[in-house]
Amino acid sequence: MPAPRRLVVLVSGTGTLLQALLDAAAEPGYPAAAVAVGADRDGTEGVERARRAGLPTFVERMGEHPDRASWDRALLGRVRSHAPDMVVGAGFMKVVSAAFLDGIGAPMLNTHPSLLPAFPGAHAVRDALAAGVAVTGATVHRVDAGLDTGPVLGRAEVPVRPGDTATTLHERIKTQERRLLVEVIRRLARADAATASREPQT
Ligand code: GRF
Repeated sequence: MPAPRRLVVLVSGTGTLLQALLDAAAEPGYPAAAVAVGADRDGTEGVERARRAGLPTFVERMGEHPDRASWDRALLGRVRSHAPDMVVGAGFMKVVSAAFLDGIGAPMLNTHPSLLPAFPGAHAVRDALAAGVAVTGATVHRVDAGLDTGPVLGRAEVPVRPGDTATTLHERIKTQERRLLVEVIRRLARADAATASREPQT
């Protein structure tokens, strides 16, 4: 059984997506495990969840840097220091640069609470509700230099119910989002490990 793929997970909030990955990694044979968790702000429940799980954590606040490029470089250094096989944006509310994506030496995935390309950006749930769609959902995608524009790796549909608020709808989406993220990473990590096992051992 190859070693689990190393995930560096980036959070900005309550970290229930991270928790789903932590719980999945406890399952025998799950092919990926978080090795470090980072945040762009202090006081996130996501970092507390990582600490409770005994994982290394880091916080890189934009306000500690003279400009965005400096923050981006600092975040890149933190992520690289944990040698990720995959970087996962799990409710991470910052846009990283092309230099960051080139520098991490691994693919970056993001999870987004709408059926991309519909409703990109930071207010996807509110925007879907305001648009009056009957069905929205969650998307896991590769991160590219755009905003929520990378290749889609998986999607899960979620119905909008009468009387839904952004909060009730978002919680329903997150239930599917957590399942989707765990399954997409399982699939990618298995494929990764299979490829690694076929490569000639140098
Ligand atoms: C998720 O729906 C994510 O897509 C969005 O914010 C939520 C984060 O949830 N950006 P949590 O912090 O993992 O609980």
